Amino acid sequence: MRLNLFSLATLLPTVFISSVSSKVFFKEDFTSDDSLKAWVKSEAKENIGAIELSSGDWYADKENSRGLKLAQDAHFYDYSAPLITPMSLKDNDLVLQFVVKYQQDIDCGGAYIKLLPPTADPKKFNGDSEYSIMFGPDVCGADSKIHAIINYNNTNNEMIKKPLARKDQLSHQYTLWIKKDKTYEIRVDNSILRNGTLADDWSMLPPKEIHDPKEVKPADWDDRKTIPDEKDVKPENYDDIPKKIVDPAASKPAEWDDDMDGDWEAPLIDNPEYKGEWKQKEIENPDYKGVWTAKLIPNPDYSEEGLLEQEIGFIGIDIWTVKSGTIFDNIILTNDFEEASEFGNKTWAAFVQTEIDVKDKLDKEEQEKREKEAAKAKAEAEAEAERKKGEDDKDAKVDDKDLELEDDLKPESNVESEKKEESAEKEESSEEEKSAEKEESSEEQSEEKEESSEEEESSESTEEEVSSDKEESSSASDGKDEL
Ligand SMILES: *[C@@H]1O[C@H](CO)[C@@H](O)[C@H](O)[C@H]1NC(C)=O
Ligand SMILES: *[C@@H]1O[C@H](CO)[C@@H](O)[C@H](O)[C@H]1NC(C)=O
Ligand SMILES: *[C@@H]1O[C@H](CO)[C@@H](O)[C@H](O)[C@H]1NC(C)=O
Repeated sequence: MRLNLFSLATLLPTVFISSVSSKVFFKEDFTSDDSLKAWVKSEAKENIGAIELSSGDWYADKENSRGLKLAQDAHFYDYSAPLITPMSLKDNDLVLQFVVKYQQDIDCGGAYIKLLPPTADPKKFNGDSEYSIMFGPDVCGADSKIHAIINYNNTNNEMIKKPLARKDQLSHQYTLWIKKDKTYEIRVDNSILRNGTLADDWSMLPPKEIHDPKEVKPADWDDRKTIPDEKDVKPENYDDIPKKIVDPAASKPAEWDDDMDGDWEAPLIDNPEYKGEWKQKEIENPDYKGVWTAKLIPNPDYSEEGLLEQEIGFIGIDIWTVKSGTIFDNIILTNDFEEASEFGNKTWAAFVQTEIDVKDKLDKEEQEKREKEAAKAKAEAEAEAERKKGEDDKDAKVDDKDLELEDDLKPESNVESEKKEESAEKEESSEEEKSAEKEESSEEQSEEKEESSEEEESSESTEEEVSSDKEESSSASDGKDEL
C-alpha cells in the first residue's frame, strides 16, 4: 500500500468502519468541483480522450446531474481512481452501481467500469490490464448489451447470455450485486433484470453435479424404442422378383438388320412388382425403459475456490467511444446493497421524472422549431413566387411601352389623347405596386422579430445552447420500451 496523504487521511476512519459490517469503498457523485482530481489519466497510450465535469445538454438538477463526461469524439479513455480503502471480495458481497447518460444519442461506445487490483499502476492502465470485474452497458449500432465479466483463474468470463443495455439519452442506473453465496442480481433503474447463480450464468465453474461414473447400465435395461414385428414374415418367393424386366412394349425396329446390327434385344425397364429388399416391420417396444443415464451426484471436482477472492484497489474506466458525450455519475462500490440503494435513491431515483419531463419539453420545443422553420420556408417560397409574378407583370408593361413607340408613327392628335390616358393608368398601377411591396416587407420584418424573440426564450429555458444535431434523439419512452 502506497503511503500518500490520501491513504493517511483515510486510515483512521477505516479502522472504525471495519469493525462494522457495512462499508463503502468508493463513492462519487461528482458534485464537488474537484471531483475529477482523483482520476488519473493513463500514459499507456498517447492521445487519451479528455474528461470533464458536465451536467449535459439537459438535466434534472444542474449540480446533482453533474458527472464525468467523455469529452472527445473517437478517443480511447483510460482513467482510474483509488478506492477509499482496498476491498476484498472474499466472503463479501460486492455492489457496484453507477449511472450512465448516453446524452449524445450513442452510436457506438461502452460505458462500463473495471475493478482493478491494488497493485494496478494507474499510469500504465490500458485495455490489457488485469481486472477482477467489468460491468456496464456497451452499445454499438443495433447491438446493445450489459457486460458482467468476472475474472477467474486468470480468465475473463463473460455472462453466457448478456442482458440488454439502455441506449436512449436518459440517465440509467446500473447495479451489479454479487452476493457472497455466489448468487447475483443485475438491476437497471432499480428493477431486477437478471438474477441467478454464478455457476449457472457464467461458464467458468465446473458443473456442480455429474453423472455417477461408477454406475453401470443394468443388464436388463431395455433402451430399444422399437423392436422388429415378429408377426411380419417375408412372403414366399419375395426374393425371386427381378428388379428389371424386358420392356413388353418394345419391338424390333423395322430397319434392324440382324446381320449388320447383331441380335436385337428389347431394352430393360424397372419392374413395377419389385419392392426392394424385404424389411421386417418395426413396432413399439412394450419393454422400453427410456435412455439410460447414471444418476446425478455432486461433482467431487466442483470448486469455487479462488472465485471472487481478489482484492480491489481502483475503479477504472477503459473504453473507446465514437461519439463523445457519455456521462458517468453516482458511482458507488460497497459490500452493502442497502447502502447503494439509498445512495441511488438520493442521487438518481429522486431526479428521474424531472429529467424525463425536461427532455420531453426539449424534444417538443425542437419539434415546434422545426415545424416553424418549415412553415417559414414555405411562406418565403410563396412570397418569392408572388414577387416573380409581379416582375413578370412589369415586364409585360415594358412590352406595352415598346408598342407605344411604334404608336408614335400614328397621327399626332390621336397620340396626344392616348398618352394622357396611359399616363393616368401608369400612375395608378405604380402606386398599387409600391404599397404592395411595402406591406410585404413589413410583414417579413415582423415575422423575423417574432422568431428571434422566441429563440431567445427557448434558449433561456434550457440554460445551455442545444445543438441542432439532436433532432433524431429517441424519446424517453423509447428507452422504456426496450425493457
Ligand atoms: C485454471 O486454468 C488452467 C489453465 O487454463 C486449467 O488447467 C485449470 O484447470 C483451471 N483451474 C480451475 C480451477 O478452473
Ligand atoms: C431470482 O429471483 C427469483 C424471483 O424473485 C427468485 O425466486 C429466485 O430464487 C432468485 N434466484 C436466485 C438464485 O437468487
Ligand atoms: C430505494 O427505492 C426503492 C424504490 O422506491 C425502494 O424499494 C428501496 O427500499 C429504497 N431503498 C432504500 C435504502 O431506502
